[in-house]
Amino acid sequence: MVKLAPSILAADFARLGEQVAEAEKAGADRIHVDVMDGHFVPNLSMGAPVVQSLRRITRLPLETHLMITNPDLFLEEFVAAGSDSFLVHWEGNCNLDRTVRRIKELGKRAGVVINPATPAAVLEEILPEVDQVLVMTVNPGFGHQHFLRSTLPKIERVRRMVERMKLSCEVEVDGGVDEETAPLAAEAGADVLVAGSSIFGNEAGVAAAMDRLRNIAHRQGVMRA
Ligand code: DX5
Ligand code: ZN
Repeated sequence: MVKLAPSILAADFARLGEQVAEAEKAGADRIHVDVMDGHFVPNLSMGAPVVQSLRRITRLPLETHLMITNPDLFLEEFVAAGSDSFLVHWEGNCNLDRTVRRIKELGKRAGVVINPATPAAVLEEILPEVDQVLVMTVNPGFGHQHFLRSTLPKIERVRRMVERMKLSCEVEVDGGVDEETAPLAAEAGADVLVAGSSIFGNEAGVAAAMDRLRNIAHRQGVMRA
């Protein structure tokens, strides 16, 4: 079954606890927390205090997507706040291996993220070291963007790399995932879908939105297998 990681970037921050509880009840696998610094991406979002507050109200793993210039500076703070895993970008990190090692020394899961214009080939050496790969299906920085279909062959390539190397690494996608694009991502080989606006911005409500996404993506994943 494909896993769902609701992104709180699209939540109503005045009702954040309530919305995360709803997602947990509806069977979310983890909560995706987008951290932006206005430098690595042209937008600001949230920091460790949000993780700290969420830690008190949910048992779900808190997955922290760091879209910041110097992730190494903030790892300890997020770990103390309650982050369970970190997604760090390949772009702009001259010492990615060091960052990944540090995350593991801190006892947390590590994932590497690639932007739409970054080729899958850069993952070759780091892949055996990480628990997750996150393929951005939009340019990072904003919610509610259109899924870039040009990333589909790359998702397939990443899936094949993971299989060829016989790794248990998860293949996750982030950006523009909705009922139309979730099946495409699942068919290409994604096993975790991050979704913000299609879950928290859905008129049908969080639980109904998650059920629909999961079912439609599952059907496609089964066909692929
Ligand atoms: C974008 C973020 C995403 C974002 C996805 O930079 O990394 O996690 O919240 O939002 P939607 O699902 O609305 O595209
Ligand atoms: Zn994200």
